Amino acid sequence: MIAVSSEGISSVTTSDASVPLSSNALKANWDMYWSDENVEKHPDGPSVALRELLEEHRWLLPKGRCLLAGCGNGHDAVFLAKRGVPCVAIDFCSAAIEKAQKISEEAGISSFGNLTFAVQDFFTFQPTMRFTVAYERGLFSAIHWSQRQKWAENYAQMIVPQGTLIVILYPLIQRSQPPPYRVTMAECEHYLKRYFVLVRADPNCRCIEGQEGNEILSVWKRL
Ligand SMILES: C[S@@+](CC[C@H](N)C(=O)[O-])C[C@H]1O[C@@H](n2cnc3c(N)ncnc32)[C@H](O)[C@@H]1O
Repeated sequence: MIAVSSEGISSVTTSDASVPLSSNALKANWDMYWSDENVEKHPDGPSVALRELLEEHRWLLPKGRCLLAGCGNGHDAVFLAKRGVPCVAIDFCSAAIEKAQKISEEAGISSFGNLTFAVQDFFTFQPTMRFTVAYERGLFSAIHWSQRQKWAENYAQMIVPQGTLIVILYPLIQRSQPPPYRVTMAECEHYLKRYFVLVRADPNCRCIEGQEGNEILSVWKRL
């Protein structure tokens, strides 16, 4: 549910019945997730929805640098870098970035110098140049709700006018143990519409097996 307070400050609550964790607790939670070798990490390859967009729908990304925020173990960054897209991929968990670097080395990508991984918090990251494209899968649902306005403002600042933002919204179905929290297209649009126009939404995009119907791929153009 999207609510506007008497001060005109927008806030979003969710039908997720769980109590939200604080920002610090969320960071600790992600650190634990990426450090625990016993937890199986999904997906263990690039996003099938992203592959479908670029390989089957032949969506053309504008030429230029791409930011991947909340990149996790880096499969999507490696996938894009292999396609010749210069990528800067960030995650605030060092354990995630270590895994990402290992995966990119195994894929032989690091030698092309096309891909940079960095341990960075999306909310304090200060890139030296704006990006032509940004892509994320699951950052919007991973952050604390109080950070969503800043999330949209950050992308607006970091992406060039007419640049592209690809957001894969996930999960759409409530999880028994969030984060990530259940998100909706309406919530995402609420924050982005001031800076971006929606140019594509794939509610029936491909998902990994067992996750069908749990993702929406959306493409936004910076105003
Ligand atoms: C749901 S996971 C998605 C990971 C990856 N994009 C994927 O599709 O598998 C969310 C990721 O966002 C990262 N994250 C959460 N808050 C962040 C922040 N403020 N700055 C950078 N990364 C963040 C987490 O560490 C985690 O790797």
